[in-house]
Amino acid sequence: MSKINIRTMGTGAVINPALHGQFIEFLGSGIYEGIWVGEDSTIPNYDGLRKDVVDALKAVHPAVLRWPGGCFADTYHWRNGIGPKSDRPQYYNANFGTERVESNEFGTHEFMHLCELVGAEPWLNVNMLSGTVQETVDWVEYCDRDAATTLAKEREKNGHSKPFNVEYWGIGNESWAGGGNYTAQAYANEYRKYASAIPLFGDGLPWTTPSQDIQLIAVGPDGNKPKERVEWTKDFFKELGQYRRPKIQGYDLHFYNWNLSDATDKVTEFSEDAWYRVIHGAFELEDVIKEQYDLVQQGIKAMPKEEGTFATDIKVDLIVGEWGNWHNIDLEAPSILWQQCTIRDAITTALTLDIFHRHCDKVQMACVAQSVNVLNSLFLTKGKETVLTPNYYVFSMYQVHKGGQKLDLTLETNTLIGEHELKKVYSFASKKDELISVNIVNVSIEANELVEINFDQELEFVGGQVLAADEMTDYNDFGKEEKVVIKAAAKPVLHGSKASITVPKSSVSVYQFKVKA
Ligand code: AHR
Repeated sequence: MSKINIRTMGTGAVINPALHGQFIEFLGSGIYEGIWVGEDSTIPNYDGLRKDVVDALKAVHPAVLRWPGGCFADTYHWRNGIGPKSDRPQYYNANFGTERVESNEFGTHEFMHLCELVGAEPWLNVNMLSGTVQETVDWVEYCDRDAATTLAKEREKNGHSKPFNVEYWGIGNESWAGGGNYTAQAYANEYRKYASAIPLFGDGLPWTTPSQDIQLIAVGPDGNKPKERVEWTKDFFKELGQYRRPKIQGYDLHFYNWNLSDATDKVTEFSEDAWYRVIHGAFELEDVIKEQYDLVQQGIKAMPKEEGTFATDIKVDLIVGEWGNWHNIDLEAPSILWQQCTIRDAITTALTLDIFHRHCDKVQMACVAQSVNVLNSLFLTKGKETVLTPNYYVFSMYQVHKGGQKLDLTLETNTLIGEHELKKVYSFASKKDELISVNIVNVSIEANELVEINFDQELEFVGGQVLAADEMTDYNDFGKEEKVVIKAAAKPVLHGSKASITVPKSSVSVYQFKVKA
């Protein structure tokens, strides 16, 4: 039996809904086919945007959506993706082996339309590698200027008279690798140029009226490189602190749970050891977040105080702009980096979202890589068919935590036998609008677990959902009945302030309670 002790008076930080953010890129079939099918497609669509994906994405209320990459951002020229579709240049997309001629049919307006339909704030990542500072400035002007400038008029001619008011602008992508192989110092200096050139639309200066809040996001480290990531962050903030520092609001760390060490591990065929190894791998991000948060704070603290009338304080949010399981490449997959998604992926997705929830005072935004047809997806598409993956259901169930206040929780549970040092169950709890939401993840593939939740007051049960699978390799497949789907959870047995629940093996569940009337 495991025990979870929860204090129901929330004193913790609030979970930023942007921690459940999404990411789409011109990679494999992530956009063309996954999201964009075109207005003339026989696949139901909203002005070319795949209806089933849009509707299901909207249902999980993504607060933020990042585009056009990823690595692709560093080859993307936004002007190719505006204006009449027939006039848009065709380009060759070799991103990660995508290897196809793409049409530029999906561009800024189509992306903004998608964001409007699903209710997400756009995060645009600018091209720092093959683009120019002027190209970036023009993109910001085109999207956000609310005045009769030539660029704003062009936006109007292309169908959107009101500014898009894009708030989040990412400056470069993975600049330590494909984004330029920069040193942290060199990147910081390039960043200064972009950050200084981007119009801030007032930005609170006394003689202007701010019309738009622009948040600049700098490239954070490769979370998978323990030594380099420390050096990158130290060096970047040191460099940024020299002389006058540029605007910066966010710092974008990337982390993938690599599963490439065992060639026999296939996405849907793997051993019990591989189940636990991959789940264990997801926890590394927790240490990376703690480490990087501390390094960012130290970097900021070490910066000299600004002098003069307009001196400001600096606050930089830690962001995880890309995360997810990255399994061995399947050469038979319909497109590059297309991965099936089993209950194993759903478990690591739940545990990762819980890492963000637990550290919601340290990390403010995170985007899963990626939403559709690439890596740790919520959706897989094939022709007319769309599958909602087990990951989708985790995002759906975990919505209860968004905007909630983290609750203090202690866990008494056994450690699973084996080399991977995992606990049997993991849990997280939050409180919002008098509702207390507790999720429990049972990582054991062998046994259901009896869990006793001890609250500090009497509560009544409101409802619960569970996502479980009979087999550890279960997934949802095209043309077949869904195997991994949300079901109503059995009602817990309540005795005073205790609730007893049996959680199925290899499952994610969410239970909601409220104070007894
Ligand atoms: O998400 C796939 C790729 O992984 C992204 O393009 C890149 O930023 C990262 O290396």
